[in-house]
Amino acid sequence: MDINLKILRYDPESDRKGHWENYIVDAEPEERILDLLHKIKWFEDGSLSFRRSCAHGVCGSDAMVINGENMLACQVLVKEVGNPIKIEPIRGLPVVKDLIVDMEPFFDSYKKVMPYLINEKEPGDRERLQSPEDRDKFEDTTKCILCAACTTSCPVFWTADTYVGPAAIVNAHRFVFDSRDEGTKQRLEILKDVNGAFRCRTAFNCTSACPRGIQVTKAIEDIKRETLLNLSLIHI
Ligand code: SF4
Ligand code: F3S
Ligand code: FES
Repeated sequence: MDINLKILRYDPESDRKGHWENYIVDAEPEERILDLLHKIKWFEDGSLSFRRSCAHGVCGSDAMVINGENMLACQVLVKEVGNPIKIEPIRGLPVVKDLIVDMEPFFDSYKKVMPYLINEKEPGDRERLQSPEDRDKFEDTTKCILCAACTTSCPVFWTADTYVGPAAIVNAHRFVFDSRDEGTKQRLEILKDVNGAFRCRTAFNCTSACPRGIQVTKAIEDIKRETLLNLSLIHI
């Protein structure tokens, strides 16, 4: 069947702002949006630019706005989004070309929260052990693929790009609740900043947008609570 794709295009060399272009693509209901973009790029218009790598929901590189919602193009089927299909770059980050945005500000925020294990002690002869119960405390946030769908769906981030954003907080959560990590205080000091976790207004867009099903808003609330407890901002 014919699918009408409306794609928001932008070429920095010729455009002052983005403009919509229409493409009619022959597609099956079970084909993915990424397949349709490939058909356009390979057979119709080689100048169409978008990121993708794994094509299986693992690398996080093809987040885009599809019919108004942040999704991974490789995970969404034609039959799930109807016809026509509107595709735009994710919001709140500078557009480089077409569906490609500059991810540097996103990764700068990610780096701020020190997303790696901090423990200066020698692990000894064996690896650092952890009980299954302790492992469960951060199981959900290990699933992040850094696609930016959460951060770029957040209304707070749209209006204040200084907000560290839900993805960075999710990745702080992954280590703050890891019993082997010793960097909790440093991370929470960073996240108690005016641009940290308390900037979240529990809009929940991030949770709806996450293609990995991570309970993003819950993770942010966990971090807020831990910050208050850990930094003695409240006394219980
Ligand atoms: Fe993507 Fe989910 Fe990670 Fe956000 S939390 S970057 S939406 S995988
Ligand atoms: Fe934004 Fe998610 Fe909070 S959408 S306001 S980070 S709950
Ligand atoms: Fe890797 Fe879609 S191409 S997640």
